[in-house]
Amino acid sequence: MQNPYFATGISFLFPQVHTPINSSFFFKKFFILISMNVDLRTAEKKIEEIGFLDIEIDPALDLFEEIAKLKKEKNAVVLAHYYQEPDIQDVADYIGDSLGLAQEAARTEADVIVFAGVHFMAETAKILNPDKKVLLPDLKAGCSLSDSCPPPIFKQFREKHPDHLVISYVNCSAGIKALSDIICTSSNARQIVESLPLDQGIIFAPDKNLGAYINKITGRNMVLWNGACMVHEIFSFEKITRLKVRHPDAKLIAHPECEDHILKIADFIGSTTQLLKYTQSENTQSFIVATEAGILHQMQQKSPGKTFIAAPPDNACACNDCPHMKLNTLEKLYLCMKYDQPEVLLEEDVRIAAKRPIDRMLEMSKQLGL
Ligand code: 13P
Ligand code: SF4
Repeated sequence: MQNPYFATGISFLFPQVHTPINSSFFFKKFFILISMNVDLRTAEKKIEEIGFLDIEIDPALDLFEEIAKLKKEKNAVVLAHYYQEPDIQDVADYIGDSLGLAQEAARTEADVIVFAGVHFMAETAKILNPDKKVLLPDLKAGCSLSDSCPPPIFKQFREKHPDHLVISYVNCSAGIKALSDIICTSSNARQIVESLPLDQGIIFAPDKNLGAYINKITGRNMVLWNGACMVHEIFSFEKITRLKVRHPDAKLIAHPECEDHILKIADFIGSTTQLLKYTQSENTQSFIVATEAGILHQMQQKSPGKTFIAAPPDNACACNDCPHMKLNTLEKLYLCMKYDQPEVLLEEDVRIAAKRPIDRMLEMSKQLGL
């Protein structure tokens, strides 16, 4: 059968050519198609500058339905971190912490991985899946912790400790991973460190708070890179203490990226998955949560009868959202799936070097039953 848009286009461009279909309806469609293409080309040119495809979406479109259709059409999987906005968590095929997401990225059979998280997470998925398309709704979704550790300077730091092994927290760039011996996350950092001989010198990068916490609980003396997460360093000790007084039955749970004075008063410390599991297994009815506020969505869904209070930050703003994580929106997620961009790409030599320490982490986690 003749393609009606093609036929209409032909008769528009070459009026002397006779085509059986030539109505105003098809002219309209033809112009819409042309203007859509122009919009796409213009938006593509702006990706480098703004990080995402800036294309208008029909407000009547049901994005939940459209995303479900695109998943099937493209054999795509949506992996989302707990810090993503609730709508994104609700369309995800898998929601998890950094370890869970890396494990899921390693085992997926989808052709397209849509990563609703930050750049280093999508990069990890690409490192593990060079032949798959890895999409990130907003390429500017970075990470202050990852940015605090530039590879050329870290390389010099590492050279000062030539006999040390480098354990890097997954929240770092591919360039840092390529300079590391083992990657860890907050779910497995303790066990990975403990698996090394006591006399083995270790450099831990880039998070000084997680590193100091692991030093404390393992009795090690790892050399720490001086990096930190802007979200986990913002909590107010005074405000949290006042909250604890007002809610004496509430348990304070904290991510190990928080500073030591917050961790010292916490009832439980763990990765986002460990915090979530703790709120499910404990009989306590209320929790003060010292990590990014996105996790509260899953906590509320898993324990609807319990109360979750986001730990207050040290500034006038009442939120503790990660500005990088929250750059991703449902609209940007839909657009990246529809047009297959922005895509995360890596230089092959960096990818190969960065894969080795990630594989080591995945193998060790498997052996440890994590
Ligand atoms: P986890 O997901 O490993 O708990 O890490 C939290 C975090 O800050 C991710 O950016
Ligand atoms: Fe990075 Fe912190 Fe945001 Fe996680 S919460 S992505 S560590 S800035």
